[in-house]
Amino acid sequence: MDLGIAGRVAVITGASAGIGLAIASELVANGVSVLIAARGAERLQHAEGQLREIPGAKVASIAIDVSTPEAATRIVSEAIEVFGSLDILVNNAGRAHAGGLLTSSEEDWQEMADVKLSSMRRICKAAIPHMQEQGWGRIVNMSSIGGIYPNPKLLISHVLSAAINNLTKSLALEVAADGILVNAIGVGAVATDNWARNMVPTVRSTRPEFAELSDDEVVARISAERTPIGRPGTPADIAAIAAFLCSDRNGFVTGDTIEASGGADRFM
Ligand SMILES: NC(=O)c1ccc[n+]([C@@H]2O[C@H](COP(=O)([O-])OP(=O)(O)OC[C@H]3O[C@@H](n4cnc5c(N)ncnc54)[C@H](OP(=O)(O)O)[C@@H]3O)[C@@H](O)[C@H]2O)c1
Repeated sequence: MDLGIAGRVAVITGASAGIGLAIASELVANGVSVLIAARGAERLQHAEGQLREIPGAKVASIAIDVSTPEAATRIVSEAIEVFGSLDILVNNAGRAHAGGLLTSSEEDWQEMADVKLSSMRRICKAAIPHMQEQGWGRIVNMSSIGGIYPNPKLLISHVLSAAINNLTKSLALEVAADGILVNAIGVGAVATDNWARNMVPTVRSTRPEFAELSDDEVVARISAERTPIGRPGTPADIAAIAAFLCSDRNGFVTGDTIEASGGADRFM
């Protein structure tokens, strides 16, 4: 399917690894000029190099922490300066936080809210006027399946995901008449570094029978148990959905949170 977005310009946050990098690959392969953002400069440059290998690639990068108040205007200005416009925004930066209310600190709440929710609303606010000017825009916000089916083992992440889903719905209505479609993806268990770092230790702490297994084997076992399709998701699974939502082929889906979890309502 031709996505109809060749020549468009996209910003993707958290695109030096995992889901964000897979979305960047998908959009670059469809002729989109892509600005990728993440904190770690070395991994970001490596990702940029990987994307440049795609024939016809137009890629730039910005090493930045999206949770800082000035990040939104810096990222949007960079896209306009380098590529001349901004049509597509994928708010993907972030990570999971394992634990419940009683084990979470004030700092945990602040840090997670800054990186997921505050960055998202600030970048949307900075990007939307450019999309309004041209009467076309697509925004995809990365959420979690836990925003719909909360799991107390990931309480902060899931409270924020519910807020992201709500922001997505309200914002979609606010800009619907401007040709801008805003959606979220409720991601289930997708095997990335994020999963290994944040989930595997928690799973191990409650499942002593996994002690002898490698991290990959733990992910495979827990995914088979929890996910009706019997495997964890891949970054490419999520990228295919994001690419459609960002595309010109999507003309009628807005304000939605697409459940992308292999049928699972929880993954720990
Ligand atoms: N994987 C899953 O199972 C799953 C499930 C539900 C939701 N999600 C959500 O999906 C998104 C992507 O997850 P993933 O699994 O692909 O994660 P990942 O493999 O850990 O990649 C995260 C990306 O975000 C960047 N990042 C993190 N904090 C940042 C910050 N403050 N500023 C700028 N960039 C930042 C990372 O680079 P640097 O560290 O160098 O900045 C990296 O490029 C996240 O928002 C996550 O919460 C994932």
